[in-house]
Amino acid sequence: MTGSKNCKCRPQSARDAYQDAYRTLCQHGIDDAQATAIRILEHVLNERYVQLIAWDIPIEPPQQALIKDYISRCVNQEPVAYILGEAWFYGHRYHIAPGVLIPRPETELLVQHGMAVLDQLESLGHQPVVLECGVGSGVIGIELSRAYPHIPVYGWDISPQAIRVANRNIQAHGCVNMHITEGDFFEGVANHILPDTVTPVVIANPPYIDPNYPNLSPCVQKEPPEALFASNGGLSVIQALVALVRDREWVLLSEMGYNHRAPLGDMMAGLPVSFATDWAGHDRFVGYVGSPQLANIEIFGKKMNEPV
Ligand SMILES: C[S@@+](CC[C@H](N)C(=O)[O-])C[C@H]1O[C@@H](n2cnc3c(N)ncnc32)[C@H](O)[C@@H]1O
Repeated sequence: MTGSKNCKCRPQSARDAYQDAYRTLCQHGIDDAQATAIRILEHVLNERYVQLIAWDIPIEPPQQALIKDYISRCVNQEPVAYILGEAWFYGHRYHIAPGVLIPRPETELLVQHGMAVLDQLESLGHQPVVLECGVGSGVIGIELSRAYPHIPVYGWDISPQAIRVANRNIQAHGCVNMHITEGDFFEGVANHILPDTVTPVVIANPPYIDPNYPNLSPCVQKEPPEALFASNGGLSVIQALVALVRDREWVLLSEMGYNHRAPLGDMMAGLPVSFATDWAGHDRFVGYVGSPQLANIEIFGKKMNEPV
């Protein structure tokens, strides 16, 4: 606990600590100041925020010192998930470390869309297999693997840090049906032998930010560039995913940038493609089936044999 030993802090209640934390973060213009203050208090005091505020419990000087230390690191634009070493995704706790993308709430929607596709494929008698491009901390594959322990989930990531963190999370979540490999997804899939009987579902939250995008927040700039940026206006990895699935009896579900619907719509004109929005209503997901044999499934509530 940094600075806890010789802390001369006066006794403080959880409510005071919350107010100090929230005000300090606001004064420094930190994004999501309230949520960040709550996460830090809950983590350090190991108690839900509502209880802390309702009971107004006293907190010990070492805990006060730790909260102060975490708040000052946030003020220095260190992402709170890196400070705490954890993030929550789909109601579950995940280990997170610098060098790995911090999972985002909109990716929970991708997981739900993935589940809807797996359910349909199974009810139509297919044997789906999940292939994940860019596992990062492992959140997408792990949630699918937890919900469908009988479906194999294979994932790849070019980042050794990501593979380390994802393997730790795979173990913690007991996902014996998920297997990940360090390396390029496209090479990995090309060398991965799949039986003819299976229907691959490619799922990805790929890097999709234009390297020239000017407004990245200082916190996002602390995340690994290979997780954020893709050439060709952010589209290069998504385009490669589309090319991989095309003309195969495979399904693709991918996140994309909020401005990618028009270029992807042009590029995929006449193909069975579907788009969906995130919680804020921005276009953020693209779905595609590579073969007319799969045109009777729905992606994002749209039958893939209907025009966009
Ligand atoms: C946006 S992050 C997504 C991480 C995680 N799936 C999530 O949603 O939190 C993209 C990930 O893809 C990895 N990546 C980028 N290009 C890749 C490639 N060609 N093959 C495999 N992984 C790749 C990056 O290292 C990064 O971990």
